[in-house]
Amino acid sequence: MSSQAQIKRVTALDIRGRKGGETVVSLTAYTAPMAALADRHCDFLLVGDSLGMVVHGLDSTVPVTLEMMILHGQAVMRGSQRALVVVDMPFGSYEESPQQAFRNAARVMQETGCGAVKLEGGARMEETIRFLVERGIPVMAHIGLTPQAVNVLGGFKAQGRDRAEWPAIMADAEAVTRAGAFSVVVEAVAEPLAAEITGKVAVPTIGIGASAACDGQILVLDDMLGLTGRVPKFVKLFGNLAEGVDKAVGDYAAEVRARRFPGPAHVYAVKDKARNHLVIPGSSLRLAPE
Ligand code: KIV
Repeated sequence: MSSQAQIKRVTALDIRGRKGGETVVSLTAYTAPMAALADRHCDFLLVGDSLGMVVHGLDSTVPVTLEMMILHGQAVMRGSQRALVVVDMPFGSYEESPQQAFRNAARVMQETGCGAVKLEGGARMEETIRFLVERGIPVMAHIGLTPQAVNVLGGFKAQGRDRAEWPAIMADAEAVTRAGAFSVVVEAVAEPLAAEITGKVAVPTIGIGASAACDGQILVLDDMLGLTGRVPKFVKLFGNLAEGVDKAVGDYAAEVRARRFPGPAHVYAVKDKARNHLVIPGSSLRLAPE
């Protein structure tokens, strides 16, 4: 058996079992090479529908399709070996009915091989989450700021800064847990509320802009690498790859223009055997030496 075959992927149940234990580490990933780099550091990789903005240059996640999620999900599965891969259900693919959600979530799992799906919404999604979990689909919930609802929320706004909003957000957390979600992403929620939710629900809370009180953390990988030029308040830049890419591309362009690249090390020489033959340009004829 190859060593590759022995690597066991983290499961949704493993993540569920981390409540109150070791902090859960996760990042988004959309491509095979990035997934390969993040794999050994993360417990799960999220193929987030944020790929619409980060990779495809869209203004929001609303236009992202199931086909896009499946394509990127397949790439992330190919690039990773160890981390659980969770694929986001895009807007319009699960809200209509539990049956619609099941049909599309099953397709995501069958066509990507991922270990779980994530969907946005709290109490309003309770029935759907229960329907999926009872039929074998592990679900990660997502409450607080739910970017697919940007058009009704009126923008990407932090949630729970006004205490009057707390009961509804807490009710969302309790509803998705009751429904059987193995974990819940808590996005852009005021710190004391995130702490209260984490203390109350029995599954790990995964914070993004929701403080270190959560059981785990997630960030958009490209944001924290400084690749998107987008630095929301809750993002820390752990690298500045945009600078590195700009420098590398600039150096390449300068060397190409100056005809310094490609240099002798980057070209193919003619093989010895062929060197003894007379090659007729424009023909496949090779004349043997006399
Ligand atoms: O789509 C995404 O990247 C997400 C994370 C921000 C949690 O849902």
